[in-house]
Amino acid sequence: DWTMPGYIDEAVARIREQVGSDEVILGLSGGVDSSVAAALIHRAIGDQLTCVFVDNGLLRLNEAEQVMETFARNLGVRVIHVDATAQFMGHLQGVADPEAKRKIIGREFVEVFQAEAQKLPAARWLAQGTIYPDVIESAGGKTKKAHTIKSHHNVGGLPETLKLSLLEPLRELFKDEVRELGVALGLPREMVYRHPFPGPGLGVRILGEVKKEFADLLRRADAIFIDELRAADWYDKTSQAFAVFLPVKSVGVMGDGRTYEYVVALRAVETQDFMTARWAELPHSLLGKVANRIINEVRGINRVVYDISGKPPATIEWE
Ligand code: XMP
Repeated sequence: DWTMPGYIDEAVARIREQVGSDEVILGLSGGVDSSVAAALIHRAIGDQLTCVFVDNGLLRLNEAEQVMETFARNLGVRVIHVDATAQFMGHLQGVADPEAKRKIIGREFVEVFQAEAQKLPAARWLAQGTIYPDVIESAGGKTKKAHTIKSHHNVGGLPETLKLSLLEPLRELFKDEVRELGVALGLPREMVYRHPFPGPGLGVRILGEVKKEFADLLRRADAIFIDELRAADWYDKTSQAFAVFLPVKSVGVMGDGRTYEYVVALRAVETQDFMTARWAELPHSLLGKVANRIINEVRGINRVVYDISGKPPATIEWE
């Protein structure tokens, strides 16, 4: 019969046997799958694993610090933290089309990751947090959307260019098993049960052209929303929740002055499979509190709206 500690021992033995004394590299995104893969592989081979964490400037508030805290400081994993914000922002300048933005973010990620990987010439393996549903998805005729979703995480031709073999220790696991494994390996529950976050990050939550100034405002608004959802015990009742930055200005009043500032939309949905979704019926008092806090605390935002569109016909993300 199956137990998690038994499973970990087995998986660890398998990884050790597979890689021997070779070096392994892994792209750590902060998402559940790559995080659990990193923790498991680290348990198996320790410092033979090097993780590369790329900050593209489109992550959530304090996300880079949290990843470094969890992996580097708490678990003792070797993590290379690359702050590539300037590079990503530079390439995104003047680009408004959602798919064009996705392509740029995916391409720059591969660029940065590859440059880091080349600094580790001893690496023989590229580890990925591929899970069972990903395996089925790419075996069966994958839909365009499925392909798009994975295109960011998939490091493209990297294994070939760098002459690396793939190490995918989560290939047989479903998402809930991956989460259980993560907790058993000592990852914080909060990280393991976090809502999904798209590969292009805030890049598709800032409508149109991405600017660092917009990302900074959005990060703070989003953090307030998520804080209040958690405080009100609504976080786990929603499947995904986030703020969206609308680059339009509207008029407001503050004291005896007039403001002319940006708008933030809040999105919260309930869904089983993310193919269809219902907007979450959050309490009005909660929405009011979030709106007040954002407007009071984030200078530059003077209006907050709530998205009550279902999927279909709307999508969960705004781009
Ligand atoms: P939509 O907006 O299509 O989103 O209803 C469905 C789910 O997919 C996520 N999503 C993405 N994930 N790269 C990703 O890794 C992407 O380009 C991407 N676009 C959407 C979205 O967050 C939701 O969970």
